[in-house]
Parts: sequence; structure tokens; C-alpha cells
Amino acid sequence: DTVFLNGEFIAQQQATVSVFDRGFLFGDSVYEVIPFYRGQGFRLDEHLQRLEHSLRAIQINADYDWKTILTRLVAMNGGGNLSVYLQISRGCSGNRSHIYAADMVPTVFACCSPIKNIYAAGADSIAGVRAIVTADLRWGRCDIKSTGLLPNILVMQQARQSGVDEALMIRDGLLTEGASCNLMLVDKGVIYTPKRGSEILGGTTRELILELAAEDGIPTQEVDIDYDRLMAADEVWISSSTRAVVPVLEIDGQPVADGNKGPLWARMFELFTRYQND
Ligand code: PDD
Repeated sequence: DTVFLNGEFIAQQQATVSVFDRGFLFGDSVYEVIPFYRGQGFRLDEHLQRLEHSLRAIQINADYDWKTILTRLVAMNGGGNLSVYLQISRGCSGNRSHIYAADMVPTVFACCSPIKNIYAAGADSIAGVRAIVTADLRWGRCDIKSTGLLPNILVMQQARQSGVDEALMIRDGLLTEGASCNLMLVDKGVIYTPKRGSEILGGTTRELILELAAEDGIPTQEVDIDYDRLMAADEVWISSSTRAVVPVLEIDGQPVADGNKGPLWARMFELFTRYQND
């Protein structure tokens, strides 16, 4: 496999980063995960806008032509359906210090891995998931796509140890999002999702759901969601780039409504499929 590291396209085995890299020492880095279908980036502009937001928020200057680099990397790895991982750390100095110099050279790394084209596979191939609700132990800037994912990893592990697939997180009595996805619910034909802010990541898939719903005349509202509201929903969904929109069929051992994939989910998946084919 070919990867991109600091301006060069090289073999994966050749790609190494210093142990003094601040990404490794401090998690002083941000990232994106971007799906490519048939060699084309899906919502690439939106991902790159969010990347700029993350970089600006932590004051990293990385002046690269991301679109050209990532599209070329995908082509060099055979095109088709690939997920691109892009990470930019503040860089590396010869020691470990909390303070950094303003002129550090960022470390830029990108690689690809195969994904299945969920849209080509169709709605029937999507199995719903089971989830637990657990405390959101993250920091106050969840809008930054930081590689500091320890709380996310711990809640996912907790989910697995509880025998389910996903962890939904709750903070001050309100649901925020999943460990690596956003959260939506449906109640009487309306899609509800937590407001964008520093408590959640502004998901590109979340945004697309809101856009497609608006075009299709499905009402949406960004609101506070507490535990009771979640548990009383007609449908619950999670969304992310690599998985699109997935129905949650059981939460904390209780079925969501009748425990089956809902009709509005099926409609939304159809809207996604149509959008992806355009
Ligand atoms: N995660 N919330 C969190 C905490 C996430 O990590 C992600 C994405 C999302 C959804 O964002 P988007 O729709 O733009 O993918 C929401 C990626 C896929 C990951 O960490 O692998």
C-alpha cells in the first residue's frame, strides 16, 4: 500500500514518524476519515472545511492541496471504494515539552483502507445495532476532530463488554453523540438531533441528513435530547462517514419502538443512495 507522509507518496513499510512527534506524545493532532466511492471523495469539501476548522482551532498551519493529494493517493491505491485517514500533528521537536514553538513543521500522514460501498450493497445489507448509554467523559471542545480519543475508546470497549455494538454518550442529562458517530431520533415523523456546538462533532453525515430531509420535506429540529426522550423515540439512528445512517434497534436492553428498522430510516437510506449516485 502507498501512503502519504510529509509531502511524499511512499510504501507503507517506509513510513515512520519520530517518537518525539507531538501526535504520539500528547495527542497534539487532528484527523479526518473520508470515504471515496469509485475513486471520488464523498462530501470531500465538507470534510476539508471541518479539517480547516480543527487546524485553526488548535493553531496548526498546514498549507497543502488536500484535494489533489488525497485523490492521487486513492488512485495510487487502485481507486474504487476506499476510506482515507488523514492525520496532521503539530510536528516534532527533539524533546518533550508542553510548550511548542510557533514555527513547528506539522507531520502530515494519510493512508487508505478498503470499504464496502454500502449504497451498492443496499438497505437490506444494513443490520441495525444495539447500544448502551454511558457517561460522556470528554473535554469541552468535541467540535475539534482531535486524535485524543481515549474516552471514545473506553466507552466503545464498555459497549463490547456489555455485549452490544455502540455507546451513546450522555452529559449533564443530555445525549451528545456516539463514540464515533452522531445521533438522531424520529418522533411522529420529525427527525431530532442534538444542536451543533462544542459538545459534539459537527458530522458531515449529520449535515447531509438535515439537507436531504429538508429537500424531501421531512421536518427536522436540533434540540436537547434527554434519556426519556431517547427511550420513547419511534426510531433512533446513528450516522458517520464510513457507515452512513444506521438504525439503532435496542438501547440499554430495551427495544426502540418495536425493535425493527423504521420507515423513515428506510426513506433516508434511499435518499442517501440517490444522492450518492448523482
Ligand atoms: N468518526 N462524532 C464523532 C465523535 C466521530 O468520531 C465521528 C466520525 C462523527 C461523524 O462524523 P462524520 O459524519 O463526518 O463522519 C461524529 C470517524 C468516522 C472516525 O473516527 O473513524
